[in-house]
Amino acid sequence: MTFKNQSFFVNFFSLFFLFSFLELSEANQSVFVTPTSSLSIISGGYWQLLQPSVGISAMHVQLLPNNKVIIFDRTDFGPSNLSLPAGSFCPKNDCTAHSLLYDVVSNTFRPLHVLTDTWCSSGSLDPNGTLIQTGGYNDGDHVIRIFSPCDTYACDWYELTATHLVDRRWYATNQVLPDGRIIILGGRRVFTYEFYPKTDFVSNNKSFYLRFLVETRDPEENNLYPFLHLLPDGNLFIFANQKSILFDYKKGIVLRQFPLIPGDDKRNYPSTGSSVMLPLRLSWTGPPMVEVLVCGGAPAGAFLKADKMKVFVEASRTCGRLKVNDPNPQWLMEFMPMPRVMSDMILLPTGDVIIINGAANGTAGWEDAVNPVFNPVLYSVNEVPLRRFTVLAPSKIPRMYHSAALLLPDGRILVGGSNPHTRYVFTGPYPTDLSLEAYNPYYMDPKFNSLRPSVLSVEPGNTVVYGQRFGVSFSLPLYKQSATYAALVAPSFTTHSIGMNQRVVILNTASVVQLSMFNHKLVVGGPTNANVAPPGYYMLFVVHAGIPSHAVWVKVM
Ligand SMILES: *[C@@H]1O[C@H](CO)[C@@H](O)[C@H](O)[C@H]1NC(C)=O
Ligand SMILES: *[C@@H]1O[C@H](CO)[C@@H](O)[C@H](O)[C@H]1NC(C)=O
Ligand SMILES: *[C@@H]1O[C@H](CO)[C@@H](O)[C@H](O)[C@H]1NC(C)=O
Ligand SMILES: *[C@@H]1O[C@H](CO)[C@@H](O)[C@H](O)[C@H]1NC(C)=O
Ligand SMILES: *[C@@H]1O[C@H](CO)[C@@H](O)[C@H](O)[C@H]1NC(C)=O
Repeated sequence: MTFKNQSFFVNFFSLFFLFSFLELSEANQSVFVTPTSSLSIISGGYWQLLQPSVGISAMHVQLLPNNKVIIFDRTDFGPSNLSLPAGSFCPKNDCTAHSLLYDVVSNTFRPLHVLTDTWCSSGSLDPNGTLIQTGGYNDGDHVIRIFSPCDTYACDWYELTATHLVDRRWYATNQVLPDGRIIILGGRRVFTYEFYPKTDFVSNNKSFYLRFLVETRDPEENNLYPFLHLLPDGNLFIFANQKSILFDYKKGIVLRQFPLIPGDDKRNYPSTGSSVMLPLRLSWTGPPMVEVLVCGGAPAGAFLKADKMKVFVEASRTCGRLKVNDPNPQWLMEFMPMPRVMSDMILLPTGDVIIINGAANGTAGWEDAVNPVFNPVLYSVNEVPLRRFTVLAPSKIPRMYHSAALLLPDGRILVGGSNPHTRYVFTGPYPTDLSLEAYNPYYMDPKFNSLRPSVLSVEPGNTVVYGQRFGVSFSLPLYKQSATYAALVAPSFTTHSIGMNQRVVILNTASVVQLSMFNHKLVVGGPTNANVAPPGYYMLFVVHAGIPSHAVWVKVM
């Protein structure tokens, strides 16, 4: 009794404390959280320069299940700073590379041959871990390119010749579907979606009109690279400009329109914000709550001012958070510590989010932004509203238009690219950047080594079956009786601040058993079904006392 009363008092008191610092206003029924106290600034984490130059600017990046990252730029601007191997084939007589394969473990890279133009394209891994990369510009805008990972020097790009995209896909978004197909949606002046591969006769060699893509286009566009999240009910959440819908792609019908995100800010290219579906926390009792977070962007008119007048207005300061499976969903609007456009949002195995890269003024586009934001920001998903944002240690390199970031299997964030110019220009305040860096979040600090689990094995094997329990053995210097769980993290395809297919699924824990002095076994439930985690390769992390292990790859099927 006494304990209960005390905890009630503490909760009541902290609520009172919190609300005295919040200005909650009901604007179109959305809740605004306005910070009135100063935000905590900590120098969390640290940066590492991995490569001063890999010779190409990392516009598009995809992590592959063999711990390599395929990186590529556009191909149509002239030479890069990376030569193709002497004597090898030079596509279109250009003997420099526009793509490379970066090996995370050895920190080395080798050039690849890409044939047609991949500029502002999209991609996904298929269930076998093969990159299916779609579209681009000019001769590349209908092309489907394949890259099958290998551990030799043999693998390289190849382009499908027998089949191609029905519509041009320049600034489209991809998502892997529960049946293993990939949907490719939108693109500049293209108001359709289509599937790869086109197997069933209904969708064979066809694309499908989606009025939403017309409705969300304004004079600046602001609806390119739409945000696309596969929800656990099997439908798609699609966000473009300021609008969002629940879409049944099988029947081609809009099931639901969500409220407009409040405010004047536009969220998609060229007013490039970013979006993630927050981690799905599975439970034994029912479907998980699903929340989408949209952060940054630029006010209406910002792109035309930047592009035509070189006036760089302040970027959006807000994030909107929406419970998409709530019967009456309303946006919760929160303020970031600084304005931000063109930032990447990275889901961490801990269940939190890091906002990284980008600028504080202007928009996406050639020479259209100034005032780089060097500090990543941690968004603590389960903190009380005013304590959610933490400013982290800054990089020294501006990461403007055409930069990228993704989560690596060791828990670091790979960061590269930045090229706001139509070709490679190495002068001025925002030179074309050819480096690769890693940002190490706070949990990488060696002071946490005693808490850091190391995965020993996955039992019965590295194939995870829907709905079936499996075991993960791990060793640990110092086991604390605090929450230990396993998280599946999908490898994303990142370009233009959008992490396609990014997804974290926190699995249900059945038991944690001590096997020996330092070894434990965690038994968890596999993902409920393919809507929760579409088939394919995932990084499996064990998280103990908030500190993640390095990941091992598992195949979910
Ligand atoms: C790229 O190559 C050009 C021309 O050789 C050179 O001037 C420039 O410094 C190189 N840039 C980097 C980052 O290596
Ligand atoms: C995946 O690999 C299996 C076995 O090699 C093959 O049968 C299947 O067609 C492949 N699936 C895809 C989507 O490529
Ligand atoms: C697909 O349709 C397009 C026109 O819509 C046509 O040009 C093309 O030949 C078709 N491809 C196949 C494989 O049938
Ligand atoms: C609320 O809705 C009104 C009318 O639809 C609109 O004019 C206003 O801008 C909205 N306010 C916000 C904060 O979105
Ligand atoms: C960025 O925007 C702010 C607010 O509009 C403005 O005061 C500042 O001058 C802008 N910075 C640049 C470099 O244009």
